[in-house]
Amino acid sequence: MEDTEKIAVEAREEAEKAESSRALYEIKMKFLGRTGKVTALLKGMRDIAAELRPAFGKKVNDLREKLEGIFGEIEARVKAKEMEKKLASEKIDVTEPGRHTAQGALHPITRTRDELIDVFAGMGFEIFEGPEIETEYYNFTALNTPADHPARDMQDTFYIGDGVLLRTQTSAGQIRLMEKKKPPIKMLSPGRVFRSDDDATHSPMFHQMEGLVVDKTITLCDLQGMLDEFARKMFSSSAKTRLRPSYFPFTEPSVEVDVSCTACGGKGCSLCKGTGWIEVLGAGMVNRHVLENCGVDPDEYTGFAFGMGIERIAMLKYGIRHIRSFFENDTRFLQQFKD
Ligand code: DAH
Repeated sequence: MEDTEKIAVEAREEAEKAESSRALYEIKMKFLGRTGKVTALLKGMRDIAAELRPAFGKKVNDLREKLEGIFGEIEARVKAKEMEKKLASEKIDVTEPGRHTAQGALHPITRTRDELIDVFAGMGFEIFEGPEIETEYYNFTALNTPADHPARDMQDTFYIGDGVLLRTQTSAGQIRLMEKKKPPIKMLSPGRVFRSDDDATHSPMFHQMEGLVVDKTITLCDLQGMLDEFARKMFSSSAKTRLRPSYFPFTEPSVEVDVSCTACGGKGCSLCKGTGWIEVLGAGMVNRHVLENCGVDPDEYTGFAFGMGIERIAMLKYGIRHIRSFFENDTRFLQQFKD
């Protein structure tokens, strides 16, 4: 019976030496665990005379409570120390400079395309994307450019099979859309086009943005009004446009559209070769044969169409001299187009 006091002293002595909560736990188990000393005492009750048992039982229970108190108290201390150590070792120096992660940027072509989409979406245009691999029919024939038509030579075409080619112009999308959708139409069609062409301002792959508007009372004035809005939003609030007569098989009349020079504002400089104007796109009233080819009655409906090179717009907007800069993926160039 005197043992219990001794056991309590022994437990405290051992527990005080514990350096970690893990070690303390093991010591605790030595006393209070299933094979521990206190449990052994309880098991020994069998060998004690019946009248002594209640007193013995109480004593062992008191001991257990006492030990639990001791271990609880020491555990709190050990844990607090451990936490202190942990905090010290994991201390964060908030004054240290952060680790730098390089951030990417949108490609200037993507940016320009998105800006164009914004401008035209604001005027109610919807996006339509046609395929890059096209047939002669959609790329040429339906656009009023039959096989022997000299305009086919204007665009050096990559043929990839009999009557199958890489589209040379997003104009092919006009036909695909009109076959599916009846007027009124207000379509904007961005995409890649391909031509066997390669110099400072031409690349065998480049991007175009096509526009098509078809409705009952569309005139060339609507085209001009829309172009003015486009030039002001895309280049500068004082930008002007000018139409010059031109030729495309799918439009009649056809025009070439100039904007007041993006570098000098119209005074004349090396970019505009002293003229004050820069050519930015081709456009015109949709040729009645094109409407007929798509099952649209040209006596009921008229329309205008336009097509521009996205690289060209980006070059003018950002003062880029060489079209190749877009495709070399030199990050020093690309990093300049960040917000
Ligand atoms: N498809 C022409 C080209 O690639 C550009 C163009 C001109 C598109 C006049 C049009 C248009 O829609 O009306 O050069």
